Amino acid sequence: MFLRAVVMAASLAATLAGALPAAADTLRTLAESAGIRIGTAANVDALDTDAAYARLLAREFDLLTAENAMKFSVVQPERGRFDFTQADALVEFAEAHAMQVNGHVLVWHQQLPDWLTQGQFSRDELAAILREHIRTLVTRYRGRVASWDVAAEAVDEDGRLRETFWSRGIGPDYLALAFRWTHEADPQAHLRYNDYGGEGGGVKSDGIYDLVAGLRRKGAPIHGVGLQMHASLKDAPRASEVRINMKRLAALGLQTHISEMDVMLSLPASRADLRAQAALYRDMLQACLAVPQCRSFSTWGASDRYSWIPEFFPGRGAALLFDTDLQPKPAYRGIRKVLGASAASARRH
Ligand code: XIL
Repeated sequence: MFLRAVVMAASLAATLAGALPAAADTLRTLAESAGIRIGTAANVDALDTDAAYARLLAREFDLLTAENAMKFSVVQPERGRFDFTQADALVEFAEAHAMQVNGHVLVWHQQLPDWLTQGQFSRDELAAILREHIRTLVTRYRGRVASWDVAAEAVDEDGRLRETFWSRGIGPDYLALAFRWTHEADPQAHLRYNDYGGEGGGVKSDGIYDLVAGLRRKGAPIHGVGLQMHASLKDAPRASEVRINMKRLAALGLQTHISEMDVMLSLPASRADLRAQAALYRDMLQACLAVPQCRSFSTWGASDRYSWIPEFFPGRGAALLFDTDLQPKPAYRGIRKVLGASAASARRH
């Protein structure tokens, strides 16, 4: 009887020890045990000027997406002149800290240089420009950038193909072409389609599903879908629907990623909102962990010090896991707890 009580107490202690991450555990050590990648968008200027920020990224994350450093206007500011200063800095930082890189983004209708959007190019010229852009960028990082957001935000709010600079200039097959050209430049890279507002159910989610299903049918080399997950407390998809959506994408043979999560709050953020924000982060991470094909969970920035939200949504912010002093918020502790529990159960199995 006594022995049994001792054994039970010992096993309870072990369970607790497994469920509660030790102080030394970081998001990346726990994520590794849980079997997913934990990522963030990185601000390359800040990596250079803010050592504490750089240390934070290296300590907590094992996947980096360039917030801006690989976008068209940065990489090819003039026709035929490529500038890899920022992209190189990002990839070198990632390699120095054993982090994977997700390349972002090859064909998107924003952050395009003027020479491109103001130039009067024929269909063939535009296709040649895009092909050369993809070839040059992807070849440079072959074997060093593990995945690419090949195309982004190509679906409109009504679920149809969005009319953009690229769809007008090249025609709807610009997407299949972009996947093909990326695959030719790096046959090993994992190629993703990335979009917002289609994480759960609804017209846009169905439109994204139809688009990627069509690409698969045509034999385009697409391997994953990034669900961006820019959310607010009032306007967030239901985690159960996100899970269902991920499963139907998985049934097409596609991996999924939460690729850009942030949860904007009204400023100054209240304690109640910070708690609700933590719950939302936890729920979405849990949805990802519940689907074996969901392979990574990334936030769009690590610290509120550098988030894009206050600039784009005046009066809102406090959207990330660390505050402006780089201190962990309830959302960080929530994510860590979920990863810790998943890591512990993975170790038990
Ligand atoms: C944003 C960056 O965070 C800003 O710094 C930049 O000024 C505009 O773009 N979805 C995306 C990202 O896929 O590329 C966007 O990044 C945010 C929305």
